[in-house]
Amino acid sequence: MSSRIPGFYKLSIEERLKIVSEFANLTDEEINLLKKYCGLDIDTANRMIENVISTYQLPLGIAVNFLINNRDYLIPMVIEEPSVVAAASNAARMTREGGGVYTMSTGPFMIGQIQLVKVPQPAIARLEILKRKEEILELANQCDPVLVKLGGGAKDLEVRIVETRIGVMLIVHLIVDVRDAMGANAVNTMAETVAPRLASITGGSFRLRILSNLADRRIVRAWTKIPVEAVGGKDVAEGIMEAWAFAEADSYRAATHNKGIMNGVDAVVIATGNDWRAVEAGAHAYAARDGRYKPLSRWETDGNYLYGSLEMPLAVGIVGGATKTHPLARICLKILGVKTAQELAEVIGAVGLVQNLAALRALAAEGIQAGHMSLHAKNIAVMAGAVGDEIDLVAEEMIREKTVRIDKAQEILNRIRVSRKT
Ligand code: MEV
Repeated sequence: MSSRIPGFYKLSIEERLKIVSEFANLTDEEINLLKKYCGLDIDTANRMIENVISTYQLPLGIAVNFLINNRDYLIPMVIEEPSVVAAASNAARMTREGGGVYTMSTGPFMIGQIQLVKVPQPAIARLEILKRKEEILELANQCDPVLVKLGGGAKDLEVRIVETRIGVMLIVHLIVDVRDAMGANAVNTMAETVAPRLASITGGSFRLRILSNLADRRIVRAWTKIPVEAVGGKDVAEGIMEAWAFAEADSYRAATHNKGIMNGVDAVVIATGNDWRAVEAGAHAYAARDGRYKPLSRWETDGNYLYGSLEMPLAVGIVGGATKTHPLARICLKILGVKTAQELAEVIGAVGLVQNLAALRALAAEGIQAGHMSLHAKNIAVMAGAVGDEIDLVAEEMIREKTVRIDKAQEILNRIRVSRKT
């Protein structure tokens, strides 16, 4: 089934759900859970975190039109911001004109850091650790025979000598193939297990034993080539390239540029029950890896095509944690139809690139507010007290009068109510 669904946004919620159910072969039970509008029951929530008093809901939307590696995907997105899902769907449609988005990724390798302090001879100690690499990896792998059986486990080890303000430290990196997990649990357990042995080898003491969120061994690359006509012509494509060059040269702009990418990335990360703080931390640390904060994507044009690419770390899983315990996260993973964590990461990278295209295209052409206005105006109308059909009437009138403000909404609402009374 194609994910190219013109007019999806015009359908009723019921009709949209029917299409998604058919696309993803959802069971009646899954459909009913989606219809409950609160798929997370309080007992599950109470087991997920501490001191629970309720659950908290956000909208779950579906971005359509995504073609990634020649396969159609419907993209579940959980986000509070208007326009993001519509913009993603719209830009995904444009990428189809050039064959969609293509992706690749490194393996799912995470880094566990072990901090060794008060090491008497750091340079020699480093070599002593490297000499015993196989023994240490073996020790780490004893923690997780299941992961090892699946082809994962601790694969490599690095030792860095890090000069700090209070002296030299030896920082050991355990490189772990975490397969389909996000990996924090597996990596942290391994780091804690090997730390005493590392301390005894080096004559120092261990302190921190924790994974690094700068997951630069777990990188996704996504790219697309779009005929300029599909984005609105040569001039718009040039505007997109200029927007990228601006971000490349200026960290103030790069932060906003990357925020636009994370609009797409986080929405899918959250929908699938993954740790969005980890993904955010990794993305921004990676963006600043050269010592200056830079955009995660790149856009160029030769006048015929617009070429976009993105490279970022994406530590996400499809087993463990909320990806399994949150019932809606499980359904979102089913809608995506991803078979591995690597595939999920690549899809998320593609969404980030497409979301970035949507923002830059709007900024380079009509400006961002035009797309935001309709839903924004509805929100303002609700804030002003509009209910039922008053919401659309107030919103439409504010847009017509080119003033979307709460005082204006109240004024229009009063007018409508007075005219209805007479
Ligand atoms: C708004 O959520 C995101 C944008 O600011 C991104 C950008 O400026 O590239 C529109």
